Amino acid sequence: MPAPDILRTPAAMLAWSKAAQREGHTIGFVPTMGALHKGHVTLVERARAENTKVVVSVYVNPTQFDNPEDLKKYPRTFDTDRALLEKAGADAIYAPDDAAMYDPEARTWVEVGELADALCGLSRPGHFRGVCTVVTKLLSTVRPDRAYFGQKDYQQLRIIEVVARDLNLGCAIVPCPIVREADGLACSSRNVRLTPQHRQEAVWLSKVLRDAKAKIGAGEREGLKLAGEMAEQLEAHTSGEIDYVAVVDALNFADLQKIEGEVLLALAVKFGSVRLIDNERVSVPVKP
Ligand code: PAJ
Repeated sequence: MPAPDILRTPAAMLAWSKAAQREGHTIGFVPTMGALHKGHVTLVERARAENTKVVVSVYVNPTQFDNPEDLKKYPRTFDTDRALLEKAGADAIYAPDDAAMYDPEARTWVEVGELADALCGLSRPGHFRGVCTVVTKLLSTVRPDRAYFGQKDYQQLRIIEVVARDLNLGCAIVPCPIVREADGLACSSRNVRLTPQHRQEAVWLSKVLRDAKAKIGAGEREGLKLAGEMAEQLEAHTSGEIDYVAVVDALNFADLQKIEGEVLLALAVKFGSVRLIDNERVSVPVKP
């Protein structure tokens, strides 16, 4: 594979995309914060299969970090990322620095209302405002036909779908399944920061979700009861601090008393300073 072009400014990125579009290419785009793992790589491969050009952004976006320590400790591995992206067949890497991304006079934010206040938004004030703003900026610079987002960050994916619809961003938002380690732990750039003991305990996040899904399959329909059992299981098997355990409507994140329709089972647990999230989707036929 030829080495991907590396674009460092919005102007250079926009010029690259316009040239590709003039030549008749379709552009698939994968936004990331780097520290790439096989979850990211599957998104790039999907984009590679469905478009004639692939752009990946690598930018640790400061405006979406509510915790300065987390921003400081976020792994930055650009040389490894670049090698991985070359192998995966990316045509361009968009990697601006903070000065290129945010004008010192910038004052415009993209906000999505109450969807950002549920689940992860409750303990991460301002997080989704930062995500929505940077993703809107990225999409208006890269101008892709399709942008690929992982279901691992389910709330983010749903919020970006809503922003793209509301602002007529003109690009399809493509959801991609969660990629997991062999023991079930969802791949995450933060996993490398877990202690060996926390790494072992973290397998319970996916296990609790799978068990809950099985219980729904066996007829459980009480949302609060199921969420309570999930929390108990996490408490029994991990030393992590539960941020939330939720059984909610998958489209608007409203709590479900009765489990039916499009359901999202989601949880967030903190192991020391490392916060992990995971989720499962379940479709439950609505009984009249
Ligand atoms: P980041 O955490 O680097 O994730 C980039 C993309 O990879 C997201 O769409 C995320 O959902 C997806 N991803 C991460 N782990 C995954 C896994 N195990 N399986 C499938 N997909 C996975 O999400 C962000 O960056 C940022 O918020 C960003 C959208 C780039 C805006 O700054």
